[in-house]
Amino acid sequence: MAQPTRTVVLISGGGSNLQAFIDQVEHGSLPLDISLVISNNPNAYGLERATTAGIDTAVINHRDFECRLDFDQALMQTIDAARPELVILAGFMRILTADFVNHYAARLLNIHPSLLPKYPGTNTHQRAIDAGDQWHGASIHFVVPDVDAGPIVLQGRLRLKGDDTHDSLQQRVHKIEHQLYPLAAKWFAEKRLSIANSKVLLDGETSAEQLQTFDV
Ligand code: GRF
Repeated sequence: MAQPTRTVVLISGGGSNLQAFIDQVEHGSLPLDISLVISNNPNAYGLERATTAGIDTAVINHRDFECRLDFDQALMQTIDAARPELVILAGFMRILTADFVNHYAARLLNIHPSLLPKYPGTNTHQRAIDAGDQWHGASIHFVVPDVDAGPIVLQGRLRLKGDDTHDSLQQRVHKIEHQLYPLAAKWFAEKRLSIANSKVLLDGETSAEQLQTFDV
């Protein structure tokens, strides 16, 4: 069998997506070797999740650096020392410099809680509610220097309910994320993903599965 894909995960907070990766790796259904979890936030609960799973952790606090460039350089050094084939942003709340993004081109994945290109940036759940949208969800994409703009690997959507609040919607979208993100990583690990003309191909084709509908 092929070696599991060496992976570094970057987090800033609760790490429920990290937990979804850990669970599937432990279950044997996701061929990743998560060798390091890095947080910019020393209090991120996700660090405990990693430690519980026996994964090495590092804290690189952006507040210790004078500028974004220096922070990104330190981040790159720590990531590169782990020699990852894949770098996963899982709720990592820092904007990354173009140098950083280009260094990990085509091996840097992010999850964003909206149906991109709708609602890049923050506060996506409330924006979907306020706009009266019928559909909302999450997108997994390769990262490019423009924020929340890279080629989309996979999207999951749900139908908004009349009584959805920011919190209920966030919880429902999380359920989608925890299924979709490990699947996207699995496709990457199985070398089934490629990028052509800024579009992601699955097994060399534009995938019919790129948008999945969830009843959560
Ligand atoms: C997720 O909603 C993700 O889409 C966004 O940040 C959140 C991270 O949640 N980028 P968690 O830390 O994985 O629980």
